[in-house]
Parts: sequence; C-alpha cells; structure tokens
Amino acid sequence: MRLKQLTLQNYRNIAHAEFIPCAELTVICGKNGQGKTNLLESVWLLTGAKSFRGAKDPELIARNQPFAVLDGITETSEEQTSHIYLTVGTKETPRPGRTAKRNGVDLGRASNLAGIFTAVVFEPGNLSLIKGSPEGRRRFLDAALCQLYPGYLTTLRRYTRLVTQKNALLKHYDRTPGAAEMLDVFDEDLARQGEEITRRRMDYMNRMLPLVRHNYDEISSGSEQMELVYRPSFDEQGLLSMLHQSRRADLRAGFCTTGPHREDFDVLLDGQPAKLFASQGQQRSAVLSLKLAEASCAQQVTGEHPVMLLDDVLSELDATRQEYLLTRMRQKQTIVTACDSSLFHKTEGELFRMDGGVLQKL
Ligand SMILES: Nc1ncnc2c1ncn2[C@@H]1O[C@H](COP(=O)(O)OP(=O)(O)OP(=O)(O)O)[C@@H](O)[C@H]1O
Ligand SMILES: [Mg+2]
Repeated sequence: MRLKQLTLQNYRNIAHAEFIPCAELTVICGKNGQGKTNLLESVWLLTGAKSFRGAKDPELIARNQPFAVLDGITETSEEQTSHIYLTVGTKETPRPGRTAKRNGVDLGRASNLAGIFTAVVFEPGNLSLIKGSPEGRRRFLDAALCQLYPGYLTTLRRYTRLVTQKNALLKHYDRTPGAAEMLDVFDEDLARQGEEITRRRMDYMNRMLPLVRHNYDEISSGSEQMELVYRPSFDEQGLLSMLHQSRRADLRAGFCTTGPHREDFDVLLDGQPAKLFASQGQQRSAVLSLKLAEASCAQQVTGEHPVMLLDDVLSELDATRQEYLLTRMRQKQTIVTACDSSLFHKTEGELFRMDGGVLQKL
C-alpha cells in the first residue's frame, strides 16, 4: 500500500499543503507544535478510521473555517489507484462531519472507506500498551482482528452485549424469577462466542510472535529478547466449565468475572515482565515491534502491507535504535515525524520540514 500524494486545505493549522511522500522512508521534522502530527493524522484519516488522537471532527477543521479538505491518491501493490476525497464539515455546512468520495463516487460517511487505504500508526499514547491496563492490550488485539476478519466484530459485539445482559441479571439475581435458568442460557451463548474470540486472539498472537521477536531483535541489535504470552481465561475444559466454576464468584461480585473480556497478554523482555521493568526506550522498542508485526500480519492475511505512520517514535531511542529505524526501514512506505534535525544526515529518506503549518521539502 502506498500514499502517492495528499493535498490538504484548512486541516487544523495547515491552511494548504501538497505532500508527496517517498515510496520508502519520509521524515517530517520540525519544532514542537508546528503541525507534524497533524499531517500524520490527516494521512491516517484516509483509512476511514477516526483520529488516533481521539479528536472529534470539528477539532480537525482549521479554526474559523467551515470545512477541511483531504484529497489523496493511494495505490495498492497491484497498482490499483484510488482517489480519496475526504471532507470534514462543521454542523452548519451542507456536508457536516467526515464524508468521503472514492474515484468520484460518493461513499457517504468516511468510515465507508475502510479497507481501501490501510495504515498502521505508532503514536506516543500507544506506550500504554506496555504499562497500561489490560483493556488497552485487548483493544489492540481486537482492533487488529476486526480489520482482518469482518466476522470478528460481529462476534465481539454479540459477546459484549451478552456480558452486559448477564451483569444486569447478576445485579438483580435475587429479585428475578428463574434467574438460575437464565444464567445457564447466557453462559452457553457466552461460552460459544467467547471461545471464538479467545481462539482468534490466540491464533493472532501465534502469528505475531515470530515477527515480534524478529523486530525486537533487530531494533535492539540483539541486546534483549521479547516474548508475548497470552493468558486465556479457560483451559482445555472450555469456557463453559469455567463459567460454571465462577458462578459463586460472579454472584458475589455482581458481574461476570471470567471470559475474554478479562483476558490479557504479558510482554516479557529477557523473561521479565516489561510492565514492571522496561525502561522508556525498551517500552518504545517493544510497542514498535508490536506495531511492525501488526503490519506484517496484515500483509500475510490481505496481501497488502499497510503504510507505517510513526509519530515521534525516535525520542528516547538510543543512536543505534534510531539508526535502525532511519536507515533500515526499507521497502515499505514509512512516514516518521521527529523534532531533532540532527537526525537528518542519518537518513537516506526524503525530508520535509513543517513550520507553522507550512510544509516544505528539504
Ligand atoms: N483546528 C485547529 N485549527 C488551528 N490550529 C490547530 C487546530 N488544531 C490544532 N492546531 C494547532 O496545531 C498545533 C499542533 O500541531 P501538532 O500536534 O501537529 O504539532 P507537532 O509538530 O506534532 O508538535 P510536537 O513536536 O510537539 O509533537 C498547535 O499549535 C495547535 O494549536
Ligand atoms: Mg507531534
């Protein structure tokens, strides 16, 4: 997958920009607050997903303007080009919110772009994948699986709904006639959907594991080894048996205490939990290894390697790790932002400078 060009109008602090990234590595440098992440975020929006910074649509439009325009051309490895025309309008405009056209055909909501242009983003907030709550790690797996297998989202929604319904029943258990029988029915359906979710997640982990190990080995020049261990909520006896075993605990707690919605995976560096021991640079390297593996998995499943968008990935990495990223990330299109201009001479990629929302090729 490749972004060939992107023209922006009134996107955040960028009044107008023409961005033609290189086929391999492109580095956007500039001081703080100049619009580097804004540019990366605009590329990400072409995937049809929401802002990776959690921004609401009106925040994407330059202040005091009615709408922003993102006009891009993407190309698959089989040279199929798409002209993506995305607008973000304020409530007052004829086209409010994020809407899109592809090759002149109106798609309606921008989320309908899903699958046309694919990208994987690393942004500093992703560091919580290592030290943050299990929920973030589950979200990482689920988001990747939803993109790869459309049926996964349906299963996940169904499972989540069942958990909510079961929780409501557990809360009002004593006052609900036939509650025990109802729990049995819930548990059977929960076990079916839940086992499917866990199986998909574990398959995905198995697919990712060799890639993650390899990536981390390269980034760290072999100085540490990274491992992932998925912790399912049930053993070979299955989820239903686990649900039966945890019924007392569920009734005491008033919510469903076991199942994929409580699962997690461990990230280990040289056998030690990264959550407790990893340094800043090691956390960054570990998240980067996960993100690069996510992209490789997408390529294995869909045949298309997503564009890599790496926001502020270089800070806290030592010179060897930075050099790996700047000189060895080849073949795949990668767009990196960085503040430190001394990194310039290390890269053979193309360089741009962002200064007060003005993009300039160096
Ligand atoms: N809707 C908007 N309209 C105008 N300016 C905006 C809008 N949204 C954000 N900005 C401005 O964009 C700038 C931030 O840009 P961005 O986050 O891309 O910076 P950056 O170059 O990535 O900086 P850093 O190196 O600190 O990460 C801020 O000055 C902010 O005020
Ligand atoms: Mg930034």
